[in-house]
Amino acid sequence: MPETGHATTGSAAPVLKTPQELLAASQLPRHEAWPLLEAASGRSREFMIAHGDKATDPGATALFERMASLRRDGVPVAYLTGWREFYGRAFWVNRHTLIPRMETELLIESALAYADRSHQPIRLCDLGTGSGCIAITLALELKGSEITATDASVKALEMARNNAAWLGVGERIKFREGRWFEALTGLTQRFHGLVSNPPYVAAGDPHLQLGDLRFEPRSALTPMKDAPGDQSADAGLSDIAEIARGAGQWLEPHGFLLVEHGFEQQDAVIALLDQAGFEAIRGISDQAGLPRAVMGFWPG
Ligand SMILES: C[S@@+](CC[C@H](N)C(=O)[O-])C[C@H]1O[C@@H](n2cnc3c(N)ncnc32)[C@H](O)[C@@H]1O
Repeated sequence: MPETGHATTGSAAPVLKTPQELLAASQLPRHEAWPLLEAASGRSREFMIAHGDKATDPGATALFERMASLRRDGVPVAYLTGWREFYGRAFWVNRHTLIPRMETELLIESALAYADRSHQPIRLCDLGTGSGCIAITLALELKGSEITATDASVKALEMARNNAAWLGVGERIKFREGRWFEALTGLTQRFHGLVSNPPYVAAGDPHLQLGDLRFEPRSALTPMKDAPGDQSADAGLSDIAEIARGAGQWLEPHGFLLVEHGFEQQDAVIALLDQAGFEAIRGISDQAGLPRAVMGFWPG
């Protein structure tokens, strides 16, 4: 690691603090403060616990204090450390990407369960890939799969490409820019499955003013077509509706559409897939029993 080159003015030596002193002074919960201290110091939590009396160098201390201050102002931990774990792997994130959520691992498990019963190589498309967490995880878990990933955000796609390279599947995923199915224009092959965690938070949902959501791209959370402040019964559902309507044209016979949704939206999402012509539609709940995704199959 290069010298930080921090100047000390006069003869006063910087006051060195131990990791425990820094954590306590941060006023943050430990589960937030530790990752920030690891990122600032370049040392693992295990190392710092084992060498607990060792002071952290002035550069790392200053960086940690700055990160802690930003966190107290609400900036998500993942945007400060630059990464978040998803399905047991680290994904780089920045302010152009949604921070991967644990709930979204449900999509991976459902897609893998289907792929187990399916033919290989399976062709899958992740619509609205963000950090690339879904597409890259599927590529890694399904060795023979062919994966396409799309996003309307060029900056999100850039991060998804970086993550694919970092996790060793850069050559196996085709990234395409564009709005939903417009991104697939020109492709001749259909898919065995379409997976998507699209924006589904209603524009008028007060949660948008709380926690990490305040800092994440609004275009990743709320459908672009939603009018500001929309609190109507179908608010938040326009992207899922568009995906359901267009999916059949891109699916092989018996291919599946799998979409994540808000926990109060399942009945409406099932109705959207039904209206679009899907069969064998089923709602999927997470480990807490909350309805979080819907899967349906295109007729043969
Ligand atoms: C909820 S985020 C999901 C990101 C990632 N798949 C995940 O699960 O963490 C939705 C993603 O869809 C993209 N998106 C929003 N509207 C879109 C559209 N009309 N067409 C294509 N992508 C869109 C956003 O840029 C964002 O990356």
